[in-house]
Amino acid sequence: MAVTGFLPAEAVRRVREHSQRPEGRPGPDVVGLHLGEPSYQTPEFVLTAMDEALRAGYTHYAHPQGDPELKRALAERLNKLNRAGSFAPDDIVITSGGSAALGAALLAVVRGGDRVVVPEPTYSLYADIVRLAGGTPVPVRCRPDLGLDLEAIDAAAPGARLVALCNPVNPTGAVFDAPELTELARIARRHDLLVLADEAYDQISYTPRFASTLDVPELADRLIYCQTFSKSYAMTGWRLGYVAAPTEISKAVAVVHRTFNSSVNAAVQRAGLAALADDNRWPAARLADYRRRRDLVVRRLAGVPGVSLAEPQGTFYAFVRYAAPVPAHEVVALALRRKVGLRAGTEFGEPGQGHVRLSFSVPDAELEDGLSRLRRLFADLDDGLRRP
Ligand SMILES: Cc1ncc(COP(=O)(O)O)c(C=O)c1O
Repeated sequence: MAVTGFLPAEAVRRVREHSQRPEGRPGPDVVGLHLGEPSYQTPEFVLTAMDEALRAGYTHYAHPQGDPELKRALAERLNKLNRAGSFAPDDIVITSGGSAALGAALLAVVRGGDRVVVPEPTYSLYADIVRLAGGTPVPVRCRPDLGLDLEAIDAAAPGARLVALCNPVNPTGAVFDAPELTELARIARRHDLLVLADEAYDQISYTPRFASTLDVPELADRLIYCQTFSKSYAMTGWRLGYVAAPTEISKAVAVVHRTFNSSVNAAVQRAGLAALADDNRWPAARLADYRRRRDLVVRRLAGVPGVSLAEPQGTFYAFVRYAAPVPAHEVVALALRRKVGLRAGTEFGEPGQGHVRLSFSVPDAELEDGLSRLRRLFADLDDGLRRP
């Protein structure tokens, strides 16, 4: 039903004006290399725990800050990983997925006019939420090798409130290492910045040992750690995530989250407890398969005229650079005409121009099919042909 004269809230206008997040989705006849989720089904032991929880009566409102047992188990887990500090269960807020974790965290700390340093390319939700909160994202381009440009971050930091870090990085597949994180911590201390760390893909890292921000003692009193079960346990549809932060910050995060969401689905939180008890064995067992598909992408795109790709060190994304002078959104549209879904690099910030993101978290046959169509598309683009 159309209405005339409706003016959305100012916050909506701010987000709409800049948001690069795609609203539509390609149809089912498209090879889905645009998707941002594991190709696996949620593990059986999580399904069973959900079933049991529902039958055991977890059908009522849960505690607004999260199931106490889940918070306790998470605090224990984080404190095992964490050389930096120690979380009490009440320093944890259970959220409706990673998106609500990021939303509640940023809305809890960003005040009108605050500047937020955002290394790019990166997940575009950070900038959207910062704008929703009335802050200003300050993009800082990563180095050509996709590492953090620490000098540029240092230069952008004076007067900023926070830096929003994605690691491993969606979309580039880069993984920042321990020395980079330590230097980032020094910069944060020097300029009194908070650090929001989104480690949604921490279990999908091909480096020998993933360096978490939890492992950086200098960050302990300024770290807002955001996490989700979505990618590690193939639980994107379940909507379960959390924020862990120093007590004063997590209390503020809890206010935002319960105001928007009340509590998180009670039975889903019990299923999360079962995932946690697995101690990351399930995601570890998927890693060889992800790595094999990553290697397939690298092999299939090697030697394609005009195309280059830094081997992803984490995530299930490849950030493909192409030389043809065609805007990224046009390449996405051309790929769609050839029935392949991709995401435009510019969705992840200006440095993403000349890139497209593809996901290799799809079944092998689909991946092979999508890659051969893309090889032809890139070859045609390099020829200067833009035929459908
Ligand atoms: C880096 C990153 N953080 C957070 C999210 C959101 O996770 P969730 O599906 O749990 O909301 C995504 C989803 O694509 C992501 O890529």
